[in-house]
Amino acid sequence: MNILGIESSCDETAAAVVKDGTHVLSSVVSSSHNLHNTFGGILPELASREQLTYIFPVIQQAIQEAFPNDSDITTSITKNIDALAVTIGPGLIGSLLMGIETAKTIAFATKKPLIPVHHVLAHIYGNFIQHPKSNIPNITSMFPAIALIVSGGHTELFHMKSEREMTWLGGTIDDAAGEAFDKTARLLGFGNGGGLAIQQAASNFSVVSSQLSVKLPRPLIHDDNHNFSFSGLKTAVQREWNRNNTLPISDIQHQKSSFAYEVQEAIVDVLVAKTMKAAEQYNVSSILLGGGVSANVRLRQKFQTQQSVIEHQVTVHFPPLEFCTDNAAVIGSYAFYHQLPQNYRIITATPTLSVEVQ
Ligand code: KG4
Ligand code: ZN
Repeated sequence: MNILGIESSCDETAAAVVKDGTHVLSSVVSSSHNLHNTFGGILPELASREQLTYIFPVIQQAIQEAFPNDSDITTSITKNIDALAVTIGPGLIGSLLMGIETAKTIAFATKKPLIPVHHVLAHIYGNFIQHPKSNIPNITSMFPAIALIVSGGHTELFHMKSEREMTWLGGTIDDAAGEAFDKTARLLGFGNGGGLAIQQAASNFSVVSSQLSVKLPRPLIHDDNHNFSFSGLKTAVQREWNRNNTLPISDIQHQKSSFAYEVQEAIVDVLVAKTMKAAEQYNVSSILLGGGVSANVRLRQKFQTQQSVIEHQVTVHFPPLEFCTDNAAVIGSYAFYHQLPQNYRIITATPTLSVEVQ
């Protein structure tokens, strides 16, 4: 079954063709991230205009790459695609509408079913996508699982009994993990480089040869619940960083790496500890990670070393890197496993779509 996935919830415009939930025939992502960076953050009005500019070219490219022998796009969709899938929320209203209205129009014109998709939950389906360099994942053996979704706007834990059954266990009560990376990156002078900039700076710091110049809290790490809180980290970084104002310029670079290292350690320690605790509590076979922060190298390392520490056997899975951050392949995969098409007339954008599924 070939699904054309469409994603436009924020500043990425993406389309992908996914076969049977696991095989990506094409995946195209256009990002207006750098454009927003010049303004210091995402401008919703600008994001939706960019969506409008790129939505059709991106879909066209995804269809052409998946089916290069069929040159006419409408004919190709009619012939090769079984269903369409589109993100309906959460996200920015203007951006969501561009993807939804485009998907509805194509569904109407080609008489294909249209499956509405929850953007946050879809991140988990990156784990089911076959990586070109690895074997087909044995999806059934992954369950039961604990899923951790860590993105720019979400830090959520779920218990999954199967590919379709998800129960929300808890999430952040303030800033998301990605938000903590983004805000502390700005405070430390990495501009809008976010988690990737922190990761790169942290890798330049060696705890063996250098003294750590700051010790940050690990919020809620020992609390007996599945909630997270990262807003205090930003305040702690700000307070400690301001003490460095008097340092000579030559020391600032080293100090930045030291702070980046500790910020990353603090966020990763909390995510790993709380997810492992949930995995033990629910006695699951695996942990599935998803969302932009799951691209973090240190997070992957720590999960891998910790997976042998808990009493029963648990395997940690990560999506291939390109399917951690926003993309449409996960939208197509989610749609395959849920297969709940709706009449295009009742599909609407839901910017505040809840993650608290049962
Ligand atoms: O899933 P995503 O692309 O968008 C949302 O749905 O929010 O996640 C974006 C987030 C940003 O906060 C970004 O800083 C973070 O993912 N991120 C990373 C890394 N790459 C992206 N955080 C830590 N380490 C990374 N390598
Ligand atoms: Zn996302």
